Amino acid sequence: MTSALDVTEALDIEPPTTELARRVSSSLDLSTSPNGTFHPASWVKGGGQLTRTSTNKQLKPFATEDIKILLLENVNKTGLDRLEAQGYQVTFLKTSLPEDELIAKIRDYHVIGIRSKTKLTSRVLREAKNLIVIGCFCIGTNQVDTQYAAEHGIAVFNSPFSNSRSVAELVIGEIISLARQLGDRSNEMHRGTWNKVSNGCWEIRGKTLGIIGYGHIGSQLSVLAEAFGMTVVFYDTVNLMALGTAKQLPSLQALLRTADFVTCHVPELPETKNMIGRKEIEYMKEGSYLINASRGSVIEIPALIDAMRAGKIAGAALDVYPAEPGGNGDYFTNDLNPWAEDLRSLKNIILTPHIGGSTEEAQSAIGIEVSEALVRYVNEGSTLGAVNMPEVNLRSLTMDEANHVRVIYIHRNIPGVLRGVNAILGDHNVDKQMTDSRGDVAYLMADISDVNVTLIKDLYQRLESLSSRIMTRVLY
Ligand SMILES: NC(=O)c1ccc[n+]([C@@H]2O[C@H](COP(=O)([O-])OP(=O)(O)OC[C@H]3O[C@@H](n4cnc5c(N)ncnc54)[C@H](O)[C@@H]3O)[C@@H](O)[C@H]2O)c1
Repeated sequence: MTSALDVTEALDIEPPTTELARRVSSSLDLSTSPNGTFHPASWVKGGGQLTRTSTNKQLKPFATEDIKILLLENVNKTGLDRLEAQGYQVTFLKTSLPEDELIAKIRDYHVIGIRSKTKLTSRVLREAKNLIVIGCFCIGTNQVDTQYAAEHGIAVFNSPFSNSRSVAELVIGEIISLARQLGDRSNEMHRGTWNKVSNGCWEIRGKTLGIIGYGHIGSQLSVLAEAFGMTVVFYDTVNLMALGTAKQLPSLQALLRTADFVTCHVPELPETKNMIGRKEIEYMKEGSYLINASRGSVIEIPALIDAMRAGKIAGAALDVYPAEPGGNGDYFTNDLNPWAEDLRSLKNIILTPHIGGSTEEAQSAIGIEVSEALVRYVNEGSTLGAVNMPEVNLRSLTMDEANHVRVIYIHRNIPGVLRGVNAILGDHNVDKQMTDSRGDVAYLMADISDVNVTLIKDLYQRLESLSSRIMTRVLY
């Protein structure tokens, strides 16, 4: 959305009247919003003159100060600032809440922002009568019953890629550290041992990096590695444009046979489970290195342990494990993973506690990305980036389209719905419309022109009466 600072344009005309809209919003409980006054927020008074703050219309079914947001778990300040700047009522808590307290509180809110500790189960969401959207200010969404949320018209957003650069930089650090056996030298010095050696220590310039999975992280890493003078090859199931002089190889085996350093950046899928096992390690070059900062299931760790003991693999860095503890403490033992102590005893292995994406920059970027997705959803209904809804978006309405309304109809994905919806919308001039489905839930968005208050009310009530309805929102 265009910010007020971008396009402040002084206009020499009367402000639009709020009278009409006030009557609509107080006579209609539009969407799950509280009854409030309609604020054409695009108009502000400055220097004795009315100014239009944006060329885009700010769509809102109710005044922004009526939107109540509950932010838990000390969400990054970048997120809090953006939500407060919208004029929403934000309650900010540093901690999570026990389930019963959460159930009592969540009823009042339209939006909730959480990180990984708050569990939004169906039991909690059942009580969230006013909730329209959940923001997970983190990567994963396992803590939310996303299916239940979708079936009740509640969109869920997260921030899957804000930490890609942090992971790529960690891997670059690990490549150099493994090549120079930095972990071992540092541990020796901590124990008081001076051990100056060059045997088996290498520059990374001129070596080949093999990247498995050339997505957000893999491609960032590709650029960084080339800057260090490495040759980059990658393997991906999708044909992708190589960055710089990197080269896509036709098979995993080809990559493993070529690379001096192999690094995994694939998602956790049935096909990627143990994708580097004994057979794959056999294909790797003698004295090569293996890195995994993707998911713990990707490497068969007992096979890696054997290959490192045999000297086939000269070093490894692991940031992720099949089982990881829920909190910090002395948990990295055989009780957690049966081979943990064997792994800890190996030389030239860097073991880190899933910190690939844990930087201040990544946290800040997550705050921005998720809060902006929430604002777009609340104000404009866009589901771009939602994890549990089809992605639907329409271009913004402009200030010249004063009598337009945006209708959002979240419904069950069953035969005949569109016939019913279009019978209602078809009486009007549908300027643009988009619909998509994901599993059992479908999302329809339509911009309708030349409507007045009576028509808005009629549209809303007729859509609400359809049996396929999950949630109707009308933004104007
Ligand atoms: N260590 C951390 O803290 C941390 C932080 C962020 C992400 N991650 C993990 O890193 C991994 C990569 O993240 P991303 O953001 O780059 O993901 P991404 O979705 O952008 O990229 C993944 C790539 O892997 C490819 N791929 C899928 N299956 C494949 C297969 N069988 N063989 C080869 N390629 C395959 C995809 O086509 C895609 O290009 C994910 O597992 C993610 O969970 C870890």
